[in-house]
Amino acid sequence: MNRQWLYARQPRGKITPDTFQWRETAIPQPQPGEALVRTRLLSLDPANRAWMMGKTYRDALQPGEVMNGFAVGVVVESRVSGLAKGDIVEGDWGWQDYAAVPARRLTKRTVDAPIELLIGPLSVTGLTAYFGLLEIGQPRPGDTVLVSAAAGAVGSMVGQIARIAGCRVVGTAGGKEKCDWLTRELGFDAAVDYKSDNAFRALRAACPDGIDVYFDNTGGPVLDMALSLMNLRGRVACCGNVSQYDVEKPGPGPLTVPGLVVVKRLRLEGFIVMDFYDRRAEAEARLARWIAEGRLKAELDILDGLERAPEALIGLFEGTNRGKRAVRVS
Ligand SMILES: NC(=O)c1ccc[n+]([C@@H]2O[C@H](COP(=O)([O-])OP(=O)(O)OC[C@H]3O[C@@H](n4cnc5c(N)ncnc54)[C@H](OP(=O)(O)O)[C@@H]3O)[C@@H](O)[C@H]2O)c1
Repeated sequence: MNRQWLYARQPRGKITPDTFQWRETAIPQPQPGEALVRTRLLSLDPANRAWMMGKTYRDALQPGEVMNGFAVGVVVESRVSGLAKGDIVEGDWGWQDYAAVPARRLTKRTVDAPIELLIGPLSVTGLTAYFGLLEIGQPRPGDTVLVSAAAGAVGSMVGQIARIAGCRVVGTAGGKEKCDWLTRELGFDAAVDYKSDNAFRALRAACPDGIDVYFDNTGGPVLDMALSLMNLRGRVACCGNVSQYDVEKPGPGPLTVPGLVVVKRLRLEGFIVMDFYDRRAEAEARLARWIAEGRLKAELDILDGLERAPEALIGLFEGTNRGKRAVRVS
């Protein structure tokens, strides 16, 4: 039996359990050039919701197809040279127990690490934080680095890597509990609850020397606040726009952006983590070393059971996760 979640219908406004439909079907037979993979862990990513809005860096999801998503699994049968039963692989075969996947869409993982680290910290999440901060943000020791969605998967790693790079680190997150966790457990110098009434004043107080690098995971009001606190020649690493994914229509955007960018000579640069995959091994080796040395905490937020995938994704837009959210399928 292959249990699957289908993408059932395009949401109007927020995603709900009705966005998805449960199906039980036969386990597929791999064809020549394919491997049959059993899912171990599913990655839940805000981008899963963005794919419902239309074409992004990939084609839009189509109702009726298996809900797409990044996953880690084990090869149970291979009709491909270079992959054997028992190999651990990653790919985007989506929300299901089993998939017959063409070899070109699978990456064999040979890193000696717990499988939970391969679903985020030593994969997409860690690489996004690493390259987005170090290559796009270009932090220098002593800089003030601000990161939004700081208690999430990417944000929590960005802040810690910025500390390793010798920066002063400030995060924004929803609620006091997450903010306390950032300063007490992850070594952030300050954290600001962006939902509080006095968020702008608190952010200004937390960044007395202004902001040199802003790692933007959210867009929306936090981007607005950050731009007005940026220093001359500051860098904004545009990683994502989570505040605008789970809505019927994205907002009109901060109308003052162009003026601030001109006057402060800012550089705003977007990136997609795959742009850096030719340097993946180097980055993963450094991330693994920092984790092993205890300098980088890889916080995992794992829900058990494929049944819980919709709930796990919906929760990302309610802020129910801390660190990397994933679902354990088997
Ligand atoms: N460019 C790339 O290649 C790349 C790769 C991976 C991820 N990303 C992007 O990186 C960002 C973070 O992804 P992630 O996987 O690490 O997710 P995540 O931060 O673990 O989860 C999403 C978080 O966003 C916050 N959030 C939800 N709605 C919000 C809103 N309206 N305003 C502000 N914050 C809100 C929530 O935290 P609070 O409780 O703090 O609100 C939630 O925990 C996303 O924008 C994603 O698209 C980009």
